[in-house]
Amino acid sequence: TQNFHIALIPGDGIGQEVTPAALDVLDVVCKKHDLNFTYDEFDWSCERYLREGSMMPADGIDRLRDHDAIFLGAVGRPEVPDHLSLWGLLIPIRRRFHQYVNLRPIKVFDGVESPLRGAVPGEVDFIVVRENVEGEYSEIGGRHNLGLPEEMAVQEAVFTRGGITRIVDYAFELAAHRKGRLTSATKSNGIVHTMPFWDEIVRERAVEFPGVRWNQEHIDALCAKIVLHPGRFDVIVGSNLFGDILSDLAAAVAGSIGIAPAGNINPSREFPSMFEPVHGSAPDIAGRGIANPLGAIWAAAMMLEHLGLPAAASDITDAMAAVLAKTDLRTPDLGGTATTAEFTAKLVEYLR
Ligand code: NAD
Ligand code: IPM
Ligand code: MN
Repeated sequence: TQNFHIALIPGDGIGQEVTPAALDVLDVVCKKHDLNFTYDEFDWSCERYLREGSMMPADGIDRLRDHDAIFLGAVGRPEVPDHLSLWGLLIPIRRRFHQYVNLRPIKVFDGVESPLRGAVPGEVDFIVVRENVEGEYSEIGGRHNLGLPEEMAVQEAVFTRGGITRIVDYAFELAAHRKGRLTSATKSNGIVHTMPFWDEIVRERAVEFPGVRWNQEHIDALCAKIVLHPGRFDVIVGSNLFGDILSDLAAAVAGSIGIAPAGNINPSREFPSMFEPVHGSAPDIAGRGIANPLGAIWAAAMMLEHLGLPAAASDITDAMAAVLAKTDLRTPDLGGTATTAEFTAKLVEYLR
């Protein structure tokens, strides 16, 4: 038996609903593969913020440090400004644990209808590699001339040579092990300093990866191409903000934002990595038991892969594919009437 110690942060809204679904699936898979997962659950959330004035305790990061991985549902609640909830929990975890890679795979599963006529199951299979700790997400800048007609806000984006090089190298490496194609998303026709810098580094690093065909696309045109020809992409690398936007777009291409998973990876393994669905706390559907659990369940599979358990991981992704292909059970975001619990139960039954 192999033992793993996981930190669990269900968070807010549907985070509280999809996390138990992922745990149900992990339980069966652990039994099948003789794995022993123990969980430390933390109630860090907007609810805690409203009660105690902070999203997590002052030593929160230290309390996560010794786990093999972190599993997060989602945080965010309408009563708490998003910049407080996110900069109080999600973003510090990504940064303090040097989770500089955010991996966001996308697939059109057989049996799931994409809103795009060009999206054929089996053909659409790409991954967004998002820079996860710098770029446009920055606290540098400020609000000035408050209340005056000259009021303004300034936001500085931070791109470092080291930060760009390591994410670009990761993406090239990943492409070399996939279909050998890399697309770098920038906006160098409109943004003068940061994006041309990113392009330059991609060009420099490409020399080290002769087996990868790469190109650079302007983010606006790229969005259009993803909609028109989603089957042409393999690995797409982009900055923190562009990667964020591309990953929700890609999730929609695959049928629903409820399907997509994310791995916030610390490649050196000095610190734990964090796994979560791409979606947020979805206050509009929270509490009704109808959230699609697939994003969280697929994120659990990514966690297993990261922990060196590829057979257990593919057990989950195979079961996802089989249930979607062989049954018409679907949550409402995919056009069905199944609840989170019903869909999860079917998946668990298939895994057994
Ligand atoms: P969202 O992803 O929560 O919801 C967007 C839309 O997609 C909503 O209509 C929602 O009902 C639907 N949706 C999302 N996940 C679904 C699922 N699993 N099944 C079915 N439908 C689903 O994004 P938002 O509305 O922009 O943000 C809501 C809150 O979540 C905000 O507070 C935001 O800051 C937060 N958020 C948190 C995270 C995170 O913790 N990682 C990520 C994104 C957004
Ligand atoms: C995501 C989310 C977060 C992000 C928000 C909630 C800060 O949208 O994980 O995709 O932009 O990183
Ligand atoms: Mn997002």
